[in-house]
Parts: sequence; structure tokens; C-alpha cells
Amino acid sequence: MADDPVICTCLDMCKSEILEGIRTHKCKTVEEVGDAIEAGAVCGSCVDDIQEMLDEENA
Ligand code: FES
Repeated sequence: MADDPVICTCLDMCKSEILEGIRTHKCKTVEEVGDAIEAGAVCGSCVDDIQEMLDEENA
């Protein structure tokens, strides 16, 4: 995919994978994403990006 940047470098997870996780687990918060797929729960530096994705997804 052309526009599928790696969001979580700790887990090497790109945007599409995280989005899939958000949808599969119906995540509403960064904490829920971390519990479900661990993205954002390792170093925490990607939480702003994940929050942005959650905002778009749950808008
Ligand atoms: S980059 Fe996502 S937890 Fe470290």
C-alpha cells in the first residue's frame, strides 16, 4: 500500500494493521488499543498518532 506508514515502530505496525485492530476490537481509547494489540503500550511514543486514528475512526 502506498500510503501505509509505520505508526508503531516498537511493534513494526503500520497504519492499516493498527486500524484493523481498532476495528476488530472496537477500541475507543489508546489504552484499549494497547490492551488489544499492544501498539502504543511499549514505549508510548506513537500514542499521539494512535489517538488521531481513534478520533477519525470514532468521530
Ligand atoms: S512506537 Fe508504539 S509503543 Fe513504541
